[in-house]
Parts: sequence; C-alpha cells; structure tokens
Amino acid sequence: MVAFRMSVISLAAVVHLTTSTTDFLNKLHTLEPSRDNPLESVAGAPGHSASQLRKDMPEAIGNAFISLASTKDSALATHSVPVVKCPSDGNGKTVTNGSRSDKYVSRADAGQCNHATGMWWSDTVAPAFKYKYEVVSQLMGLRSGYRVLDWGAGCGHNLDVVAREHGFEGIAIDLIASNAVWADQNLHNLKAFCAADGVKLPFPANSFDAVLSNAALYHVPTKKAQCGIMRKQILHILRPGGCAWFGWLGSHDAHGDELVSPEAWSSSDCLGGTDAVVYAVNEIEFFGVSEYNDENSYSLFVCKSGHTSPGAFVNASGSVEA
Ligand SMILES: C[S@@+](CC[C@H](N)C(=O)[O-])C[C@H]1O[C@@H](n2cnc3c(N)ncnc32)[C@H](O)[C@@H]1O
Repeated sequence: MVAFRMSVISLAAVVHLTTSTTDFLNKLHTLEPSRDNPLESVAGAPGHSASQLRKDMPEAIGNAFISLASTKDSALATHSVPVVKCPSDGNGKTVTNGSRSDKYVSRADAGQCNHATGMWWSDTVAPAFKYKYEVVSQLMGLRSGYRVLDWGAGCGHNLDVVAREHGFEGIAIDLIASNAVWADQNLHNLKAFCAADGVKLPFPANSFDAVLSNAALYHVPTKKAQCGIMRKQILHILRPGGCAWFGWLGSHDAHGDELVSPEAWSSSDCLGGTDAVVYAVNEIEFFGVSEYNDENSYSLFVCKSGHTSPGAFVNASGSVEA
C-alpha cells in the first residue's frame, strides 16, 4: 500500500514538472551557498581506536563508561527532567568579563564559524578535535535517547557532528552570543545552543547523561574556580552514572592563569571528597594525538556515582556492583 501511494506521488511529480517548476527549483538551488557544518568536510586525525583506549584505561573508569553506555536510566527517560531550554533572561548575552577568552569575540566577528577550525587560530587542529569528540562519544556509548552538553562549544561544530553521528540530543553553551546565533542558522543537529557562562549553568539537576568539553575550562583562571565548576555545576547537572570529558587542559595556552595539574583533580580540596570516579591522562599518550601535539595537554574524565541501571551501582572506585 505504501509502495503504491509513493509511486502515485512520484508519477504526479513527473507530470507536473513543467518548465516553470524546473526554473523555480534551479533558482532555489542557486539562492544560497551550502550552509552545512564546515567541520563535516574534515577527516578526523588517525588517533587510537575506542577499543584500544578501552584496553588502556583503568578498570574503574572503563566500568563507569560501560555502565553509562548500557543504562536504561538516561536523563531523558527518567528523573522527570523538563525539556532543557536556553534561558531568556540576561544570561543570553556575550560575557565580556576581561578574561583572555575575549579573544574569541573578535574571532567570531571575523566570521571564523564559517571555517572548520572555528574558534581556534590554526587550520591544522581541526582533525585532532574532530577525532577526540568522536572517539570519546564512542567510549561513552552516547546514542539516541541521551542528552549531552558541550561546555564552551565554540561554534558548535564538534557537538553537531557527533550528535548527527550518534543520534543524541546535543545542547551547546558558550560565552559568545553571536556563536549561538550562527549555530541556530547553520547547524542542523543541535537541540539548542545557549549563550551562557559555564561558571553557572542554567540547567536543572540530573538533566544530562554526559558532558563533552574541549579546550575551554582552562580559560577559567584559578584552580579553585575550575574545581568549583566540576563539583557544583557539572556533578549537579549530570544524572547519577553520567560522565564528563574535559579535553585539552594543562596546555601551553593557559599563559598566566593557574595551571591545574592532572593530579590536582582527585585531591581532597577538589574532587577527592566527592563520590565520583576521576581519571586524568596525558592526551598524546592516551589518544596518540592532541591539538598542536602539545605534550602537556591532558584530558579529564569524571563519572558521577549512582544507580545507573536496575541492580547496578558504580561505587567511588568505579567498580560496578550488582
Ligand atoms: C578554544 S575554543 C574551543 C571550542 C571547542 N570546544 C573546540 O574544541 O573546538 C574555547 C571556547 O570556550 C569558550 N569559553 C571560555 N570560557 C567559557 C565559560 N566560562 N563559559 C562558556 N564558554 C566559555 C570560549 O568562548 C571559546 O568559544
């Protein structure tokens, strides 16, 4: 029946494809250049595969990822979490707080979102960040039915690619309001892009399954403030069993800001006192690749403990107990 109806429709289309219709379609085609995500045309760097990374990572964090990937208790499915919307109050403006991230305002004004490199200042780094978003999405088993935040998303290119690839609901935030406008007009796979300061997230508790973030948290100038974001914002908006990845920390780009060492995250004055699994690892060693091949850059993985599926519990050391 469906096949019959379709053939009737296509026959009707052929019959009505007059010269004026063809002219109209041709005009439509030439009205706008392609408005697709410019990162789509870049190949990801040849880093280590997700199955290799699984073998290389400690059991605790590996188990937390398995639990995240296999759970039926996604933020969308449970926790009665309302639809995540961008705030309509004063939060939707570019925050020019005098921090070094103000340099991104001028890059946005110069039209950088139309290029695959986005907020970065080099054409060579796009393969590295494209690979990292893809392989971390695979590691975490992100898929349809999950809701994922990109903290400091830049133009939203990276989240848009993996949201399309894996079918999850992607929500981006960034300080730059014009990036949110650009993303609304040009990207097709994001649920929302909020112009907001990630120092205070405008989302309710337990509303995300995962957080992805790359080369953004280090712009927050002090260790105390970065730890505060992880403890009070990220662990708050993640649902129990949810996981976060913060890439390209510790890089040379931090300049005068306080460099947070990989070890600092699990110390008692940071995430040590929380019931979360914490893993920090050098990016070149772990992924086999990093932007600018920066030897100091590292990735931080944090999984919030909790009941992740009926009968399973991820404890503070990351092992899953039946
Ligand atoms: C180097 S870009 C990285 C963009 C993207 N994550 C990527 O890997 O391509 C850093 C981004 O972090 C954003 N950012 C810095 N501090 C932020 C904050 N407190 N809240 C939200 N975004 C922030 C900047 O506006 C900028 O777009």
